Amino acid sequence: MLKCPKCNEKLIQVNRSYKCIHNHTFDLSKSGYLNVSLKNKKNSGDNELMIKARSSFLEMNYYDFMRQFVKNKLSKEDILVDAGCGQGYYTKEFSQNVKECYGLDLSKEAILYASKHDKNTLYFVASLFDMPFFSNSIDCVTSIFVPLGKEEIYRILKPNGKWIVVGPGPRHCWELKEHLYEVPYENKLPSCIQEGFEMIQRDIISNRIFVQDVWSLLEMTPYRYKTSKQALEKLQQSNGFEVTFEFVVTEWRKL
Ligand SMILES: C[S@@+](CC[C@H](N)C(=O)[O-])C[C@H]1O[C@@H](n2cnc3c(N)ncnc32)[C@H](O)[C@@H]1O
Repeated sequence: MLKCPKCNEKLIQVNRSYKCIHNHTFDLSKSGYLNVSLKNKKNSGDNELMIKARSSFLEMNYYDFMRQFVKNKLSKEDILVDAGCGQGYYTKEFSQNVKECYGLDLSKEAILYASKHDKNTLYFVASLFDMPFFSNSIDCVTSIFVPLGKEEIYRILKPNGKWIVVGPGPRHCWELKEHLYEVPYENKLPSCIQEGFEMIQRDIISNRIFVQDVWSLLEMTPYRYKTSKQALEKLQQSNGFEVTFEFVVTEWRKL
């Protein structure tokens, strides 16, 4: 059940629109997503170029082992929200293992792409800090490489609800960093404490895979904007190398 972002009343589907009792109306787009963002355009998530770069990289399925690892944690009884779902690479796969699936992102371009490629999920243009769900109504939230928005996730999860967070492991993209920097640093592990949540499990999973198009990989990372021109040029000439993909997957339970 969805909540009106303007007045917090119930949104009811009437044909291709969702309406509340105050007649606030949100129309489904042609491809089937709902824009419930009240934000102005300035803060609008990833742009089309970033979405294209991420899509072409993700579709090579280097990250599929992590996607399957998370998918196996979901249950057929779950109502799932993928918060900051991007173009739905994970959401589409997760939707096969749950009862109801929602994907949400601030980027209209990402949601347009997601809604065109996945008809099992209802996608929203919305902020993960203000989600169109009632309190205590969701069984599971996934946060994959996104800002966390812990308070809002706590609000929408049912008591005992699951929150699965994925971020980079210490040696994620290590060989790429070795190419770019003289002294590469390992990523720090995230905190083991989240107020209001109990940690159920934490896994560090990794795979070393040959990547030919290392430039597409770079485009996915923050290093794209933090690297000298010289190092970028060197990378552009590379014919590929083995890269470690390492993820920290943490499962939290709402107390
Ligand atoms: C690194 S991408 C990860 C996307 C996806 N989870 C994935 O791993 O493919 C981060 C995403 O968070 C979205 N984002 C950033 N701030 C957001 C916010 N406040 N609310 C919703 N989405 C947000 C961006 O638009 C982008 O799609």
